[in-house]
Amino acid sequence: MLSARGIAVAFGGVKALDVVDVEVGPGSIVGMVGPNGAGKSTLFNCLTGVVSPDAGTVELDGKDITRWPTERRARVGIGRTFQTARADPNSTVCDAIMTGFTVSTRQCMLGAFLSSPGVRAEEKQFKARALALVDTFDLGNPDALVGELPAPHRRLLEVARTLAGDAKYLLLDEPAAGMDSLDRQILSKVLRQVADRGIGIVLVEHNFGFVLSLCDEVTVLASGKVVAQGTPEHIREHPEIVRVYLGQGTP
Ligand SMILES: Nc1ncnc2c1ncn2[C@@H]1O[C@H](COP(=O)(O)OP(=O)(O)OP(=O)(O)O)[C@@H](O)[C@H]1O
Ligand SMILES: [Mg+2]
Repeated sequence: MLSARGIAVAFGGVKALDVVDVEVGPGSIVGMVGPNGAGKSTLFNCLTGVVSPDAGTVELDGKDITRWPTERRARVGIGRTFQTARADPNSTVCDAIMTGFTVSTRQCMLGAFLSSPGVRAEEKQFKARALALVDTFDLGNPDALVGELPAPHRRLLEVARTLAGDAKYLLLDEPAAGMDSLDRQILSKVLRQVADRGIGIVLVEHNFGFVLSLCDEVTVLASGKVVAQGTPEHIREHPEIVRVYLGQGTP
């Protein structure tokens, strides 16, 4: 379980988060949605370690990781994507995904010098896993250059790359931004498959429809506070959400 409790963050006089709780368990997809400036990215950054909260704790399976930097969180399986794509545009799709494996293998560098046949076998295994991810994510030709991919596919690639790092939890900042409905469908399908393998997913999104159709649990933030929290069914029936965000009569 990855959980944030009682999180408060202020930037100068602005209360970006005013005592907020959110949690995600293995195999579950949790969405954070809300208007501009609601505090979504700030909460996301508290989970990834980019922002250190003024109050509250972040825990992974009961261990307090509130002050852990991002890289240390990555080593215990908290993977994240960035709002802007990070993969080298001049590398191939397959190689870009393989760079994701380095997180789990970095600590084996000495082993790499001591037993090269084993390492070569591992490389082969990585390549096979990267090709499988190319397939799952419908990324097309694994030898195409990253820079030649359409923007939405580069986002899918970022998710694939993060997954290659053996993440137990996957944190995604607006993964569907700029995607058309077909790409969103691919993304939804893939994220559900990922969750079904036991990985917990947290995603920040603007699009209510996407979040409500995909997530198991949804947190709606506005002005740094939780407006509503629960299953999509609960959110769809929440009077304030219907009035402000969904409009009367929206299913
Ligand atoms: N580094 C920062 N310095 C100063 N103020 C910040 C900083 N980061 C966020 N804020 C402020 O904190 C509040 C919450 O911002 P945040 O980026 O978390 O919102 P958001 O829900 O992600 O919005 P958006 O949908 O526009 O991405 C806003 O008022 C924002 O201006
Ligand atoms: Mg944001």
